[in-house]
Amino acid sequence: MCGLVGYLGSKDALPFLLEGLKRLEYRGYDSAGVALLNEGNFSIIKKKGKIANLEAELPEKNLSHAGIGHNRWATHGEPSDVNAHPHQANSGNIVIAHNGIIENHLEIREDLEAKGIEFKSDTDTEVIVQLLDFYMKENPKVFFTDAVQAILPKLAGTYGILFLHKDYPDTLIGVRNGSPLCFGLSNGEFIISSDVIAFATYMPQVVHLEDKEMVIIEKDNYRISTFKGAIVDKELENIDKQQTTASKGEYDHFMLKEIYEQPRSVLRAIRGRLLNEEGNTKLGGINMDVRDFFDIDHICFVGCGTSYHAGLLGVYLMESMARIPSTAEIAPELKYRNPIVRKKTLYVGISQSGETADTNSTLQEIKNKGGKVIGICNVVGSSMARMTGAGIYVHAGLEISVCSTKAFTSQISAIYLLSILMARSKDMSIHAGRRLVKGLDEIPQKISQILEQKDRIREIAKKYSHFNNFLFMGRGNNYPVALEGALKLKEVAYVFAEGYSSAEMKHGAIALIDPECASIFICPDDNMRTKNVSNIQEVRSRNGRILAIVTEGDTEICDVADDVLEIPATEPELTPFLTIIHLQLFSYFIALELGKDIDQPRNLAKSVTVE
Ligand code: G6P
Repeated sequence: MCGLVGYLGSKDALPFLLEGLKRLEYRGYDSAGVALLNEGNFSIIKKKGKIANLEAELPEKNLSHAGIGHNRWATHGEPSDVNAHPHQANSGNIVIAHNGIIENHLEIREDLEAKGIEFKSDTDTEVIVQLLDFYMKENPKVFFTDAVQAILPKLAGTYGILFLHKDYPDTLIGVRNGSPLCFGLSNGEFIISSDVIAFATYMPQVVHLEDKEMVIIEKDNYRISTFKGAIVDKELENIDKQQTTASKGEYDHFMLKEIYEQPRSVLRAIRGRLLNEEGNTKLGGINMDVRDFFDIDHICFVGCGTSYHAGLLGVYLMESMARIPSTAEIAPELKYRNPIVRKKTLYVGISQSGETADTNSTLQEIKNKGGKVIGICNVVGSSMARMTGAGIYVHAGLEISVCSTKAFTSQISAIYLLSILMARSKDMSIHAGRRLVKGLDEIPQKISQILEQKDRIREIAKKYSHFNNFLFMGRGNNYPVALEGALKLKEVAYVFAEGYSSAEMKHGAIALIDPECASIFICPDDNMRTKNVSNIQEVRSRNGRILAIVTEGDTEICDVADDVLEIPATEPELTPFLTIIHLQLFSYFIALELGKDIDQPRNLAKSVTVE
């Protein structure tokens, strides 16, 4: 959510800013802007809409060696040229770009307005730059860095902020408090950003800032300090290029490409972690051994969006396989009901990006209360990975599409591995372990078989593309899949869809059933199949339209459903890996049919770094 990029060096800043913004565009795309320091003055170009709108306004030649840029995902103030960042102080001296929310912006604004300061935008961000400007006017001898340090304690909320001052052409300042910020350096050039992908191709190494840290880049030097000025020593980390470069290749959209990557991404998640002979798994990064599991009597999965759905599946898996009572929590719901943190609970944070503010702040709250926290995360070195210090990297590779697909199957891979590991230390026999490990091993190839059915899924999606209401229904392990399937359709096709337990349908959703409502039943051959068949019949009797996802050869359901899509036979516990692939493609093709902006759906952001 919101992309920040700043450049200081000996080259022309603009191409670096523009390229960085393009790579960060998936994080926010309702407006974009750059501020360039040119011979003692700022040129600021800001445009509502996507980067292409901004690009059309940019000068061909530019000689600035310092600049900052921003992609916006609006929080305060509608998307517009004026509200786009960077924001400039009334004196013209300072520009800033900001990611996050300043919670006390109204208070600061009223205070400054009472002192005669006029505001140009509706954003919370503008208060930062006007406050700094005012402070420097009141304290004419103060240095830029000291002034930044002086105003930070007045800001409540979360932020990653970049600052430039026209009288300090060789200084670029970045501060972090709750919104990610990192910088890369190479031969006296610096790029600072909210995400390493903005500079990964130019710079081999990265430094991540932690909360309440700031970096002061001056000419070809930098120093990191706390907000209070204490110098902090930090290691340079090597950048993993695989995690930071992506192109659509032969695909029309990142979403489709990422759906197609799943045989490989699931393989990467499980590779080297399956112990076929022992019927077990191994997970070095969780920093626990089998004896530690005796002390765990509850697992709590914590996440948002798709990651929450993966956690909900974790509840079913942990309880049925490992027999450990488990819960899944929408992160901020847990945080703000003041979690009862227990010694014997293992808290498992789940996040693709590792930067979701709701999830990270909840995990931090749990840690502060002494809870044991691990993470299931895709992005190596992300805030969540660093905060938890232990967990499972899922190695899905960079996920660009805002609508998450391969991250989900990679996250559930990690959860299956963890569930089997814990189950084997408890009641699960070696035979049951071997059966599941073998089943997991075969999943990538079975996903490929579903991907081969692309044309059929497309044809069915076309038939269903005129429906305005969808119910996605499943039971047991496929209840979280139903929620995830409905989420995919909402996100990319903007069609109303609700995920429901098919068991719960008769207690409410059945009132919606008529020929205009499409019911998508996830009904593979597992221990819930017979019950699901009854639920399908109940919808059939009320003239509902039914698409069923079944295990191949299920002729009984073929007879009652209007349409069916098949998954290859697998172990009953593992069907979510396969049923979700159909639902991802189904949503993709409906969105395609409806002409929606698939990789950048309206109002959404890939990584939500504000609470
Ligand atoms: C946003 C995205 C979702 C994603 C959620 C959690 O809302 O649009 O696709 O599932 O954040 O993201 P995370 O990176 O924590 O998995």
